[in-house]
Amino acid sequence: MDMVSTLAAVRCCFNSSSSVAHAAVPVKIARVPLSIGSNISTGVVETAEEDDDEEKYDRDGWFENQIVVADTNKKWRTSINEHSGGGKRGGGEVNDACSDYVNSSVFNGRRVFMYSMLTSTIPILLSHGAHASIPPTSPLTERQPSQQIDTFQTLTIRTEIRKVLTKLKSAGILRLVFHDAGTFDLKEKKGGMNGSIIYELERPENVGLSKSVKVLEKVKDEVDKLFPVSWADLIAVAGSEAVFICGGPFIPVQIGRDDARSTDPSGKLPLESFDASALKKCFMEKGFSTQELVVLSGAHTLGTKGFGNPFVFDNSYFKILLEKPSASPSEMLSMIGLPSDRALSMDENCLRWIKIYADDQMRFFDDFTNAYTKLVNSGTLWKKTE
Ligand code: HEM
Repeated sequence: MDMVSTLAAVRCCFNSSSSVAHAAVPVKIARVPLSIGSNISTGVVETAEEDDDEEKYDRDGWFENQIVVADTNKKWRTSINEHSGGGKRGGGEVNDACSDYVNSSVFNGRRVFMYSMLTSTIPILLSHGAHASIPPTSPLTERQPSQQIDTFQTLTIRTEIRKVLTKLKSAGILRLVFHDAGTFDLKEKKGGMNGSIIYELERPENVGLSKSVKVLEKVKDEVDKLFPVSWADLIAVAGSEAVFICGGPFIPVQIGRDDARSTDPSGKLPLESFDASALKKCFMEKGFSTQELVVLSGAHTLGTKGFGNPFVFDNSYFKILLEKPSASPSEMLSMIGLPSDRALSMDENCLRWIKIYADDQMRFFDDFTNAYTKLVNSGTLWKKTE
């Protein structure tokens, strides 16, 4: 069986799997998003149970009764039971999100899961010598998000990441992405998403990130047994997974990054003491607009800085910033962790975007997806294809 027939068989399974979705027992799902080739259907699972804390997070129960199966023509077969969990997004909203997705031709920016068959499919694909074809690349190019960029290798990386990643570890992983990519300087064409963070862990701004690197070391060891993976790719994909398992959008990630062999210039990351104009300038030097600064700062919805549930990726960051628009710095400080977040809410242009994202979580997810994609492609040195 060649790779296409194998995947066609998988498609068959997906297409006949809607009855599984009605099962009363928890359905085990390999969370593997897939987009290989043009005609391959993907079984997709939409799930939105958000446990309030890490203890309650259960890899199996997490998926109970929330399944969507789709094909590449975006003709969705849905089977989502009402979900009464105490998460921020209940079953009704899940259904809304799904119908929204059904009407959307954009694959990006929605929560997408592959159905369980894929885990068992990976070894089959491997044994049949399937190789992900990384699109032709050139150094320092930016890529647009695409439906087809999650290759077979990405899938394998995601699978290994899922074995070790938890909601508790997600904030640190997402921060790691920014601290690797955020060194980018557009004018100097230096820094960026190149894995150099592993040489920079002693820097004061990177305190605490060695834990996250350690988590990914295990993944790297496993993936390297199958094919070499760069730190830059690993971190970029792990950040996407971190967002996703915390309830955020599914962000496809192009792989094929080369790693730097040394450190990036220091002093390129923004300081938490920056005011809005310093933040805007800092992001502009990386090629990011004010809107992208604001939407990326929404990453602070994860972690313990006071923006809602620390394990849930949602638009609480913006809602909470809006609740206290005129509070004094000292009042805000007790509510919200970072002065830089407060600074955004005091700038007219930033505030406009904060309001937009506070009102519309889907807009936040979509714009975050695009900005994240740009971030993880910043300054990337793409490997040359043979
Ligand atoms: C806008 C400028 C930014 C500044 C000044 C900033 C600064 C900081 C600081 C000081 C912390 C606290 C670290 C600690 O707990 O010791 C933090 C946490 C965090 N940052 Fe940022 N950050 C910025 C933008 C970003 C961006 C763009 C992302 C990702 C896209 C990001 C992701 C995170 C995450 C997820 C945490 C929580 C980490 C945890 O709780 O373990 N940050 N940030």
